[in-house]
Amino acid sequence: MFILAHLSDIHLAPLPRPNPSELLSKRGLGYINWLRKRRRVHRADMLARVVADLKARKPDHIAVTGDLVNLSLTSEFAPACAFLAGLGDANAVTVVPGNHDSYVRSAETLALQHWADYMRGDNNENFPFVRRRGPAAIVGLSTSLPTAPLSATGKLHGDQLARVADILAALGREKAFRVVLIHHPPTEGAHHFRRLRDADKMRDALKACGAELVLHGHHHESSLVWLPGPEHRIPVIGVPSASGSPDYHDDPGGYNLYEIDGEPGAWRCTLVSRGWHRDDRRITELRRQPLMG
Ligand SMILES: [Fe+2]
Ligand SMILES: [Fe+2]
Repeated sequence: MFILAHLSDIHLAPLPRPNPSELLSKRGLGYINWLRKRRRVHRADMLARVVADLKARKPDHIAVTGDLVNLSLTSEFAPACAFLAGLGDANAVTVVPGNHDSYVRSAETLALQHWADYMRGDNNENFPFVRRRGPAAIVGLSTSLPTAPLSATGKLHGDQLARVADILAALGREKAFRVVLIHHPPTEGAHHFRRLRDADKMRDALKACGAELVLHGHHHESSLVWLPGPEHRIPVIGVPSASGSPDYHDDPGGYNLYEIDGEPGAWRCTLVSRGWHRDDRRITELRRQPLMG
């Protein structure tokens, strides 16, 4: 059995003190929001407990679907790199970025500069990239780009949409176990200012070409939505913020495991959700659900 772990929306704390010049932008509003609310929601001590629980499960690979940092301050990226190194080396950890990882235009390239080893494919390609790990063909997409203040939208920028359709179709012909990583979910019904702007086109690509799993973050809550595919329905799965405090978050910190077994054309996969049990303040198994097979 191959075990893939999925965590997201690290929102690494503590937030380094910004330079005053860095606050003359969308970051200014974000910093006020951090001081007023988010610093109580996203806690380094809670994150450490979640990561310790995840590592004790000894997953074969770890996927991180974005929002590692908060305001894309230059000083946030090296600590995020150290956090990733603590999860595992770049062969064992795959990252796609979120909207907080390119919060303003001046920070647009920082994630790629610092985390490139975790965000490239087996052939050194950028988004979309493919990494083969065990039975999984992991397809990494970036919806991360700077947006206006109060907007947290995403978009599959560049030629990703056209290329991901070809990649998913080719992997489908091999009957590989395709795992798509994307920060913004390609589902319907997202808030206008938090949506994936080309979600309809991504749904079209999934419907035409298929995938076995689509894993996302962004909404900071557990979710499972089924989208149509060419041969079978596709589970689209979100996880809570890994650093979410049980005291201040509706869906406190946790992560998912995917137990993948079987063979090409006859895959089996079970979803296991682990996270904070709100009542007795421990991390435990919250859900176990067969997804296929
Ligand atoms: Fe987030
Ligand atoms: Fe996000």
